[in-house]
Amino acid sequence: MSQTTANDIAAIGATINAPAYVKHQKLISWIADIAALTKPDNIVWCDGTQEEYDRLCAQMVASGTMKKLNDAKRPNSYLACSDPTDVARVEDRTFICSEKKEDAGPTNNWMAPAEMRATLNPLFDGCMKGRTMYVVPFSMGPLGSPIAHIGVELSDSPYVAVNMRIMTRMGKAVYDVLGTDGDFVPCVHTVGAPLAAGQQDVAWPCNATKYIVHYPESREIWSFGSGYGGNALLGKKCFALRIASTMGRDQGWLAEHMLILGVESPEGKKHYVAAAFPSACGKTNFAMLIPAIKGWKVTTIGDDIAWIKPGKDGRLYAINPEAGYFGVAPGTNTATNSNCMASLTANTIFTNVALTDDGDVWWEGMTKEAPAHLIDWQGKDWTPAIGKETGRKAAHPNARFTVAATQNPVIDAAWDDPAGVPISAFIFGGRRSTTVPLVTEARNWIEGVYMAATMGSETTAAAAGQQGVVRRDPFAMLPFMGYNMSDYFQHWLDMGKKIDAIGATLPSIYCVNWFRTDENGKFVWPGFGDNMRVLKWMLERIEGKANGVEHVFGVTPSFDDLNWDGLEFTQEQFNTITSIDVTAWEEELVLHTELFEKLAYRLPAELEATRVALKNRLSM
Ligand code: OXD
Ligand code: MN
Repeated sequence: MSQTTANDIAAIGATINAPAYVKHQKLISWIADIAALTKPDNIVWCDGTQEEYDRLCAQMVASGTMKKLNDAKRPNSYLACSDPTDVARVEDRTFICSEKKEDAGPTNNWMAPAEMRATLNPLFDGCMKGRTMYVVPFSMGPLGSPIAHIGVELSDSPYVAVNMRIMTRMGKAVYDVLGTDGDFVPCVHTVGAPLAAGQQDVAWPCNATKYIVHYPESREIWSFGSGYGGNALLGKKCFALRIASTMGRDQGWLAEHMLILGVESPEGKKHYVAAAFPSACGKTNFAMLIPAIKGWKVTTIGDDIAWIKPGKDGRLYAINPEAGYFGVAPGTNTATNSNCMASLTANTIFTNVALTDDGDVWWEGMTKEAPAHLIDWQGKDWTPAIGKETGRKAAHPNARFTVAATQNPVIDAAWDDPAGVPISAFIFGGRRSTTVPLVTEARNWIEGVYMAATMGSETTAAAAGQQGVVRRDPFAMLPFMGYNMSDYFQHWLDMGKKIDAIGATLPSIYCVNWFRTDENGKFVWPGFGDNMRVLKWMLERIEGKANGVEHVFGVTPSFDDLNWDGLEFTQEQFNTITSIDVTAWEEELVLHTELFEKLAYRLPAELEATRVALKNRLSM
């Protein structure tokens, strides 16, 4: 086999116009290969500057992909409206293509890598014709942090390029970290809509055929046909969760679908906690909550993803690999999340919200009353009367904002610290209108892993498909696992064993449910800032200062164990959201059994033993 020489590489670099500051030969030849396959008209090497961002946004305003909002209302902000068929992650089109099917496990769609490559190759061949390919270098995590990793996304969507600049540390400095031979995760993205010569483009190109493909062994991501969110911004779910989870398994760390927040007591004692909730269950709200109890402070490290590695002292340290928030807009308002609303006052990209007559944005739940007239997310006239008559929403229920983390008024001082922050507790929460109590503390690591593994939640609009049905969503990772779920449970158990073995304190594990309803279907728990009451109890438990009562599944506060200052909440209401209905739990355990039967292969024996112990306790 002939060797590729420095001269060859210079020639390859020249054909794809590589800037002189890109010195990574493998990267250059990969980009040349992808350009040869996808055949874009041009290549733009993104440098991550404000000038570049402004230029791409102006270009998208000219092409009709985005509208510039009224600068007097929302400076430097834009609205993009997608094709109505491209509005959410497509879980049924998401594949983990490991060599062996059992390594993807029963919760993932799988295809053999060779078969998938043979399927994708014709789709990617010429898929960027008539378009520009953007080379988007990015770091997940602070540049150069020992917990961070680098990716390069090649995309034919300028919308992706500008969103990636907000959501990651994107730009030229990444090449300095990469040097001549640093590791990177190659990510190829296309909207799958090549243009013939002279063909007029549409505002939101995409393709009815979609593939979101991960090759965990070679750590590659290939995404075809969608321009939306987690399908297209490949640093987020594809890299930071699916590929990173496999890196974490191999290297002894955790990539989790978790927010990270700092919480400081009136005495100045600070803890960091990481919390996993399924998509669109209020992670962003929880990460920015304004405590309902005086004197307490909450600050945000991240709102969606945590990368967690053991430190030298044996404790677990977490970073937020992202640099921005891609949050659900509907339901966000100054009462539910005023820090978020403050973050969105400028420099924000909105997607699929409604446009007001004065050039601003609106979504359901933003204000009590809707404006008299709007242009809805599909570009149609919308009035409250039309909404009432047709049931049509002004904003799509999965409408999003993209905003830099630095705009959050309660950003934690350590949010960008390359060393990460030590985690005192893990919280797992599903959306359950019945059965699961407000808060339960696991008695030990294994019971905590069991709670997380068997978590169920009612589905939301964040993914395409039926909404409101309970599905098991272990660790809130069901759509984001890069390998076999049973092996992932084992990895959590092993991490616990390792930390325990060196005598370090393991984080406590809690299971919460903010979503229990009364007989009229109304939420009983006020949630939002009042979740501080639950957080306070947890931290005081960790410090050995709070009581709790033991029940079959763990430890729960009694009414008197929570702080009720400033809230009218009766013992009766408390009972409604904390009661344990034995029949409901017997049914719940049947569902745990079903999950375990599905996962049977390589399911850790400790989890089945925990289930049996719970069942026995329940029937006592
Ligand atoms: C998200 C999701 O976008 O979980 O964060 O769907
Ligand atoms: Mn998420």
